[in-house]
Amino acid sequence: MDKKSSTAFLALMLITVLTAIAFFAGVSTAGEPTIVDRVDRTKEIDPGKYGNIMINNKTGEGKAMPEVEFPHWLHRSKFTCKVCHTEIGFKMKAGANDFVMANIFAGKDCGACHNGKAAFAVTDCNRCHTGGLPNEKNRIIEEALHELPVDDFGNKINWVKALRDGDIKPKASLDGTGEMTVVDMDILIDVKKFAPAPPKVLYPHKAHTEWLDCSSCHPEPFKMEKGGNPEMSMRKILSGQYCGTCHGKVAFPLTNCFRCHSAEPEPLELWPDPYAEDAAADKDKKSDTTADPDPMDE
Ligand code: HEC
Ligand code: HEC
Ligand code: HEC
Ligand code: HEC
Ligand code: HEC
Ligand code: HEC
Repeated sequence: MDKKSSTAFLALMLITVLTAIAFFAGVSTAGEPTIVDRVDRTKEIDPGKYGNIMINNKTGEGKAMPEVEFPHWLHRSKFTCKVCHTEIGFKMKAGANDFVMANIFAGKDCGACHNGKAAFAVTDCNRCHTGGLPNEKNRIIEEALHELPVDDFGNKINWVKALRDGDIKPKASLDGTGEMTVVDMDILIDVKKFAPAPPKVLYPHKAHTEWLDCSSCHPEPFKMEKGGNPEMSMRKILSGQYCGTCHGKVAFPLTNCFRCHSAEPEPLELWPDPYAEDAAADKDKKSDTTADPDPMDE
């Protein structure tokens, strides 16, 4: 981008972001952070807490055991999403899975790995049942993953780069022999429902299928067709649908606007051309005289 168009680009983006934030300010789901919380860059989120899920259907206050804190950042450095969300079959929604110790002890769910071999044994109760407090045996993100390429948002790790550079080698199946089915296909998603529109969204299949199975997105939440999801909107994304199923929860957060809105912006017209109306009127006049039938012709 040359200097002039990049200045224009920044001006447009500033306007878009400010209007969009005002526009989305009302969106909020009960108990969840408001959209303003989510897009407020001044609110620092602990990178070691981003993407952690508190599993507390049967544990927590008033129950026999403290609630369980599941850290995505550590697990995704060792396994792709596909292993847990397709092979084991965990539903991608906090609280949606019914975990009980009997199953975990029998080698299911967390027990598929937490068997004393692939990962620490189930008898180490406190490492899972932390109640959200630090546990001296558990790792700290800044120490465990400090060599990974950095990002400004979420876990502050550029996971796409970390994987491609080979800094992490997450297994694609439980036994480690599986491979990902990677599809390299970009889809340009038009952004028309707001003016001034931000740049179009360049959706990359590659960066997703390096981690995820097709079934995580097709047929839900996306119909497998370019332009096949016309009901999608930024509001719905911010409230956890479509791209927001993962972004803002585990994948990089929605604050990172331009990592999605990354297409080259359209030529910018911030100020209307003052002569445009006159020119149009002139044209109308001309076409009027030629189009109007001459009354003397009759
Ligand atoms: C690998 C992680 C992990 C370890 C280790 C673990 N748990 Fe759990 N436990 C869970 C998860 C996940 C749940 C579901 C939590 C919920 O839904 O509230 C759970 C639920 C429970 C529950 C309530 C449900 C039920 O099955 O009765 C109890 C009680 C419990 N754990 C006790 C223990 C004890 C005692 C130990 C150690 C012997 C232990 N857990 C070790 C992950 C773990
Ligand atoms: C080691 C297993 C494991 C791996 C690997 C894993 N997840 Fe998860 N994921 C879970 C568990 C467990 C839950 C919590 C389910 C619950 O609360 O019932 C979860 C929940 C989620 C949720 C719901 C979050 C919410 O707030 O509702 C999303 C989204 C998600 N995972 C996406 C991903 C993505 C994307 C990846 C890969 C980058 C990934 N997961 C890798 C186990 C895993
Ligand atoms: C696909 C395999 C796999 C599954 C499924 C899995 N884990 Fe793990 N988990 C690991 C591995 C590998 C480690 C790191 C090795 C270790 O600490 O023993 C780990 C580490 C952890 C840690 C320690 C984090 C730290 O900071 O050191 C916690 C807590 C944990 N898992 C909880 C869970 C819970 C809760 C579940 C089920 C909801 C679960 N895991 C399911 C493989 C798995
Ligand atoms: C993270 C989500 C995600 C994953 C995983 C994913 N897709 Fe898609 N896919 C999309 C989105 C978003 C679109 C575009 C939908 C739209 O334009 O409304 C799409 C569109 C498509 C299309 C339509 C292309 C066209 O030109 O009409 C095909 C085919 C497709 N995906 C195949 C796959 C296959 C095969 C896999 C697995 C290897 C896969 N997808 C994995 C999100 C995903
Ligand atoms: C099922 C989960 C999921 C859904 C749904 C999803 N993503 Fe992602 N996305 C990921 C994961 C995982 C990554 C890897 C990076 C990370 O975790 O931060 C990623 C990465 C990306 C990247 C970064 C590519 C790069 O080269 O750095 C873009 C851009 C992106 N997603 C856009 C989208 C858009 C746009 C949508 C909706 C049309 C979408 N994603 C839906 C999980 C998802
Ligand atoms: C994970 C990817 C992703 C991120 C991050 C993201 N967007 Fe979007 N955004 C989309 C997609 C996809 C659409 C297109 C929806 C459609 O089909 O119209 C969209 C549409 C929009 C629209 C058009 C109005 C609408 O509802 O469709 C605006 C305005 C917008 N985004 C602003 C933002 C701003 C501001 C940010 C940062 C705070 C942001 N977006 C971050 C994916 C993203």
